Amino acid sequence: MRKKLVVGNWKMNLVQPQALSLVESLVKKLSATDAVDVAVCPPYTSIAAVVQALKGTQISVGAQNVFWKDSGAFTGCVSAPMLADAGCKLCIVGHSETRGRFGKLEIDADDVGYFAETNRTVNQKIQALLYHSVMPILCVGETLAEREAGQTDSVIQTQLREALQGVDASELGSFSVAYEPVWAIGTGQVCDAKEASRVCGMIRRTLADLYDQQTAEGIRILYGGSVKGSNSKELFSQPDIDGGLVGGASLDPNDFTAIVLSAV
Ligand code: PGA
Repeated sequence: MRKKLVVGNWKMNLVQPQALSLVESLVKKLSATDAVDVAVCPPYTSIAAVVQALKGTQISVGAQNVFWKDSGAFTGCVSAPMLADAGCKLCIVGHSETRGRFGKLEIDADDVGYFAETNRTVNQKIQALLYHSVMPILCVGETLAEREAGQTDSVIQTQLREALQGVDASELGSFSVAYEPVWAIGTGQVCDAKEASRVCGMIRRTLADLYDQQTAEGIRILYGGSVKGSNSKELFSQPDIDGGLVGGASLDPNDFTAIVLSAV
């Protein structure tokens, strides 16, 4: 039985005093909850303070992105060993906002260089994180145009296959996938729970094809995209949904608490 995992992705929100006030409130509200794994992913500038504030609690801290080289002349970047050193236990990779919002680059691909993720750079990031024992949460998902063209499953299968190239099953003990339909992120338009579960089941079958059934059964597959306290129970009660990656609602301690408790 996989333990459920609920992760708050704060995105580019909250300066340090606000971050600390949010985690202080979460610690009080969630102190009795250890049936669910809980994590928050603050912006880099608040990671150290949040790690300190959450010491000794059951809430873990993650990052929202990483660069795949360990060190070097990469201005503005943060590496996996730096995240591990700061106390991060997990890191989001391949979010549609870092791949290029809505799956499309807003500037010419040639001008983008390292900074818009592709399946290939997502793969490098996953390998760097696993090497430094930081759990990757790989985001996959289709755009509305891809869904309407009937390409949902094939797009996600390609994202999974390319992101996991060269990654051995033995390294996947600490690895999660988040199914995040791009059209559901920040729009208030949540994916129907049955359909979200169908896609998560397809993700698990793809992982079983890439590796084996036992490995696939051990990987947590989260749903993300407009998760709220009002829809999380239905989502989390689906057989193939092992928790959530929560954006906007993770900034509200009451809503985030309700989401976590609905996973118990
Ligand atoms: P949302 O974002 O919950 O605000 O839709 C989810 C995400 O981007 O991970």
